[in-house]
Amino acid sequence: MNEPTDAGRFYALLRFEEASLALRAALKMNLVDRIGDQQLSRDAIGEMFGFTAQATRTFLALLEVMEILQSSKGQYRIAERAAICLADGITTSRKPYLAMGADPQVDDLIRVLQGKNGEDAVPLYSGENAGATVMDEPDVAREIAVGLSSRARNFATPLATAISTQGSKAKTLADIGAGSPYVAQACLTAMPRLEKAILLDRPNGMRFAHEIIQAEKMDPQRLVFQEADFFSEVPVADIYVLSNTAHDWQPQEYALIMNHIRRAIPPDGLVCIHEPLLLTNWDTDTAWLRALWMACYALTLLRLTLGQGTCYSIAEHHEITGKSGFHPIGNPIPTCDGCTALLYRPTTVETN
Ligand SMILES: C[S@@+](CC[C@H](N)C(=O)[O-])C[C@H]1O[C@@H](n2cnc3c(N)ncnc32)[C@H](O)[C@@H]1O
Repeated sequence: MNEPTDAGRFYALLRFEEASLALRAALKMNLVDRIGDQQLSRDAIGEMFGFTAQATRTFLALLEVMEILQSSKGQYRIAERAAICLADGITTSRKPYLAMGADPQVDDLIRVLQGKNGEDAVPLYSGENAGATVMDEPDVAREIAVGLSSRARNFATPLATAISTQGSKAKTLADIGAGSPYVAQACLTAMPRLEKAILLDRPNGMRFAHEIIQAEKMDPQRLVFQEADFFSEVPVADIYVLSNTAHDWQPQEYALIMNHIRRAIPPDGLVCIHEPLLLTNWDTDTAWLRALWMACYALTLLRLTLGQGTCYSIAEHHEITGKSGFHPIGNPIPTCDGCTALLYRPTTVETN
C-alpha cells in the first residue's frame, strides 16, 4: 500500500507521454513502410534509421510493447495490426489522423535517437573530469535531487528489507550514487549488525544528502560521506547498493562501475542492483501496462541523459554483471514505484 506522501503515481503519469511521442516519431520516420515485410535484426533496424546502439535498444523495446514491432529469436518485423493501420496509402490506414499534431518534440526525439544532441546540450550526470552537467546548476539540481529523494524515501524500507534477506551479517554497506541518506538509514535499521553505511556521490549530488539530513534532523552517526567519482573508485564494503543509477549509463559504463565493485568486494560480499526493469513478456493486460510503463521509462531516461541511459531487462543486468564477475542469487524482489531489487554475489574464479 503506497503512503499518501508517495508521489510515485504522478511520476508514472509523466512517463506515458513517451508512448505518444514514440508513435508519432515512428510515423514521421515512415518506419512501418520502410521496414515493410522484412525481418531484420535490432542492429539492422538501428542502422536503417541512423540510431545509436542505446537508442535502438530503447526505442525498439518500446515499439515492441506498443505492438508496432514484434520479435522472435532476435529478428524484428512489423506487427500485423501496425501494417494494416499505420502504413501509407492504404484505405485501412489511420496514419493521417494519428500523425496529426506532430510537434517539435517529435523532431527532438528523433535527434536524440540519432545521437544528434545540440552543441549546447548539457548532460545530467558525468564523471568528475567530463565537464559541466545539469547537476552543477544548484537550483535545477535541487529540484532533481529532492524529486529523486522523495521516491527513495518510499522505497528505502522495502529495499532495505530485500537486501537484509541476504546481507544480515554484513558490517559495512556502500550506497553508490546515493543521492539521499534514506536507503543507507533504512539499511542501518534493517541490518543492526551494520557498523557504518557509506554514501558515495559526486560533490554536486552529496550536498543535497547533507541538506536532507539537516532538514529532517536525522542522526548522521554511522553514516560516512565519500565524495567521489564512481568511474574512478568505490570504497571497500560488504554490501554495495546501486539504486536507480545503472540506468543512467550505457552498458560499458555500467560495467566500469561493476568492475570497480568487483575489485573491492570481499568473496562473500553482496551487491544489490535496484532498478525499473524492462519487461520482455506480458500475458495479461496488467502486465502489458507495466511493460509499457517500464519501456516508456526507458525512453525518458534516454532523453534525460542525452542518449546514455535506458532501462535494462533482467537478462541484460545478469549479462553485464556476469561479465564483471557476479552471479544472481535469490529471486528478483519488487520494492515500489516500479523498481525491483536484484541481488548478486561475486563469482569465485577457479584457478588451476
Ligand atoms: C538517479 S540518481 C539515484 C539516486 C539514488 N540512488 C536513488 O535510488 O534514488 C543517480 C545518482 O548518481 C550520482 N552520480 C552520477 N554520476 C556520478 C559519478 N560519476 N560518481 C558518483 N555519483 C554519481 C548522482 O549525483 C545521483 O545522486
